[in-house]
Amino acid sequence: MTDDIFDDAQADLLFATPLARFKVADHAKLDKALLTECARMRAIDEGVQKSNRGGWHSKGNIFDNDADCIQQLRGIAVEAVLDLTRNITHRIDPEADLNLKLNGWMNANPQGGLNAPHTHPGAHWSGVYYVSQPKVSEGNSGMIEFLDPRSDLPNWRLMKSETFRPKKKIRPKAGEIVLFPSYLVHWVYPNESDDERVTIAFNATFKKRKSS
Ligand SMILES: [Fe+2]
Repeated sequence: MTDDIFDDAQADLLFATPLARFKVADHAKLDKALLTECARMRAIDEGVQKSNRGGWHSKGNIFDNDADCIQQLRGIAVEAVLDLTRNITHRIDPEADLNLKLNGWMNANPQGGLNAPHTHPGAHWSGVYYVSQPKVSEGNSGMIEFLDPRSDLPNWRLMKSETFRPKKKIRPKAGEIVLFPSYLVHWVYPNESDDERVTIAFNATFKKRKSS
């Protein structure tokens, strides 16, 4: 009907915030090795308190650790970062034109453990690799939730539109990487399971490569 009124109509989706998910192939062996390395690290590192409430958060940059499993995960994380970056821009080649720095840490969240809402200032992409994710039949246990940075969104709720949803929660499985812009506020629901949830989180920061 509106064809009679408008010659043309279009709506651009401005200011999009990508949320990417990568499922790593044949991850079981990698996860087992990472859990073993996690236990070894915890025995010698009391951890630090960051956004985690309860549980253990490793000190320093985990990618400085030369263990094969950590370096394998680093390689996978770099591929995911490059893939998502190529997905959102064709004006540069992130591998050829930019230098990439990855800074990561391991989280182990026992029952009751959670991560309070936070962002990762200073990075471009932030990511989480799920080493283990306890199975639950219902509820929010272990879910990561992202909060839309736009203001006034509650006013738009009555439209029931995906475009203006104020938050989005997902429960990634073991072997999955989620990747998102570091400005995106996120938090993790308490682990209600008896089993630990183990993740490796990372920040990916690009710098312009100096031309020689
Ligand atoms: Fe985070």
